[in-house]
Amino acid sequence: MADDPGAIVGRGYDALVERYLEWTDQTDNDPRMRFLARFAAELADGAEVLELGCGAGVPATARLSQRFRVTGVDVSAAQIERARSLVPSATLMVADIGELDLADGSFDGVAAFYVLGHVQRKRLDTLLGRIASWLRPGGWFVASFGVADEDGWTGDWLGVPMFFSSFPPARNRELVVAAGLAIVADELVTAAEDGSAVTFQWILACRS
Ligand SMILES: C[S@@+](CC[C@H](N)C(=O)[O-])C[C@H]1O[C@@H](n2cnc3c(N)ncnc32)[C@H](O)[C@@H]1O
Repeated sequence: MADDPGAIVGRGYDALVERYLEWTDQTDNDPRMRFLARFAAELADGAEVLELGCGAGVPATARLSQRFRVTGVDVSAAQIERARSLVPSATLMVADIGELDLADGSFDGVAAFYVLGHVQRKRLDTLLGRIASWLRPGGWFVASFGVADEDGWTGDWLGVPMFFSSFPPARNRELVVAAGLAIVADELVTAAEDGSAVTFQWILACRS
């Protein structure tokens, strides 16, 4: 369907490759690389890492690829094309993270930076369950979650139509635990995006 949330998000990010890179670079107090470092510290060199919504691959995919074998997935073909030039060592694929068909226990780590807020929240429990199943026992998950009680919002974002959806922090936490993941860090961090304060919930969790 042309106007389902996935299509809106894919089209939006296709149009935003350079704009998003410039914009994300200007965010103040962004904890993304701090949480990436905590996640990376739990993994051995050469670990298999799946990155959901990898975008154009910088800075996160590039950093992860310095130590790990990274598979990056993004619904936007234009973002993946840019990532192929910026992070040639990563395996990159165009796909909707809700539709991925991956083998159980095939990754040591799964990272999802600033992507889950684009997934319809009614699909979040299924997606988190799949993420847990893709992890080997003892594998690690790091993600940012939106915190607004928002079933689905479509509107202008960075000059393109965009879709967002999220639960409040307590529900995000419940869903991660229900997926079979043990939370070891859970922080609300407010960053300044274009001068506006925006809060995300950052979770680091382990599959037992
Ligand atoms: C805010 S950007 C974050 C990019 C990168 N992770 C970062 O930290 O800069 C969100 C990315 O997730 C992708 N995305 C959103 N929904 C997706 C979905 N359902 N499946 C795959 N990728 C998705 C978008 O195309 C976009 O590249």
